[in-house]
Amino acid sequence: MHPIFDVSSAAQATPITFVTKSTLDDVVGGLNASARTFVRSSGFAAKPGQCLLMPSSTGDIEGVLFGLEDAASRWKDPFRPGQLPGLLPRGTYRFANAPHDTRLAVLAFALGSYRFARYRKADKPEVTLALSNDVDGAELSRVVEAATLARDLINTPANDMGPEELEAAARAIADRYGAAFSSIVGDDLLKQNFPLVHAVGKASTRAPRLIDFTWGDAKHPKVTLVGKGVCFDTGGVDLKPSSGMLIMKKDMGGAANVLALGQMIMDAKLKLRLRVLIPAVENSVAGNAFRPLDVYPSRKGQTVEIGNTDAEGRLVLADALALADEEKPDMLIDLGTLTGAARVALGPELPPFYTRDDALAADVARCAQSEHDPLWRLPLWAPYDAWLDSKVADINNAPSGGFAGSITCALFLGRFVEPTTPWLHVDIYGWTPSAKPGRPEGGECQAARAIFKLLDERYG
Ligand code: BES
Ligand code: MN
Ligand code: ZN
Repeated sequence: MHPIFDVSSAAQATPITFVTKSTLDDVVGGLNASARTFVRSSGFAAKPGQCLLMPSSTGDIEGVLFGLEDAASRWKDPFRPGQLPGLLPRGTYRFANAPHDTRLAVLAFALGSYRFARYRKADKPEVTLALSNDVDGAELSRVVEAATLARDLINTPANDMGPEELEAAARAIADRYGAAFSSIVGDDLLKQNFPLVHAVGKASTRAPRLIDFTWGDAKHPKVTLVGKGVCFDTGGVDLKPSSGMLIMKKDMGGAANVLALGQMIMDAKLKLRLRVLIPAVENSVAGNAFRPLDVYPSRKGQTVEIGNTDAEGRLVLADALALADEEKPDMLIDLGTLTGAARVALGPELPPFYTRDDALAADVARCAQSEHDPLWRLPLWAPYDAWLDSKVADINNAPSGGFAGSITCALFLGRFVEPTTPWLHVDIYGWTPSAKPGRPEGGECQAARAIFKLLDERYG
């Protein structure tokens, strides 16, 4: 059980009562006279996110009122209770009545208590939540632990999270669940035919690598996860401006979320054969860096012209997807922080996903909604595929013009996956730019919870 959840002391826990504008009078009417006076004199109006600590006659905190969106309002944030850990003093709490969605509220409470504390003692909320019997604490713990893993990996700066450290993190997870682990490092990438992973990573003093682990019964359906593990993205020779580079420690967010998803799958013992592939590199600048207009072979055989060294994520994913596809997986899923264009289109909280499979798309959209892990389908728009043409090679990694950048990136990746493979690609952001309920600022677990729900439905 995650330490935020308390299963023993429900009796002593301080009750949190959820209140909306329309239930306020009823709730206040049920209080004793001095409490009623206190609510009125404090001006508590049950605004969403408003919190009132209720004192007892001896000055202890006897209860908490917390405002939620009204039942009739256009948008009810199911994660609103994720604000509570940041507002409450140390203690053990319980929900006295039901919020709009109890499971998501409990999840948000736990996710909202996260702080990144590797380098200094963060002001981590010292709260625990006593769970009632109708909440599956083990299931929620699995999700919270996975989200914490993804956030910690992303928040760790590149000096402590290079390709080697990312490999160590993957190996630790693989070992914990008895997965078979291997890794191809440095020039061995050339010998074993991963020319694009090598090209992107070779300018760094920290060797590029392809991380690969496999778990589960070989007779079960094969689900393969591929995550972009660019530990820092300077842009390469097409160097990013400082404003664009500032959060590029998060460019291994795809890898972090694939590890989070893999951990949930193994922990829940889903009936599938899992494979996790992470091309882990640092996109650096040096004399031996790959350059614009260079042409490289790829694992799948096509030659690739470099239109822009900053479009590196799709290059490393191309070789990893080609390898994944060689064993004809029953489902192939890749996650990566691939384009700024996805943010322009949909913003940081709503990553676009792509698939050729309409039934899979419907399931992804439904699971994203029910998990409150939002995803939105964009099309693999075939007419734009020609934009990837190169004058000298089979394909260019960065079409000029810049229109529909997230779509052309997805189309690029699609050239490395056979049309018959059930394939899902998600262009995540992996970062919360300013805190939201249940989502502290910084690295974020994105798409992993939604996809876990989908896989749990199919293979649970
Ligand atoms: N890692 C970036 C994408 C990114 C940028 C994600 C900012 C989130 C915030 C990726 O490697 C990249 O640089 N993409 C380029 C592609 C372009 C050169 C075709 C981009 O989006 O500008
Ligand atoms: Mn880049
Ligand atoms: Zn990148």
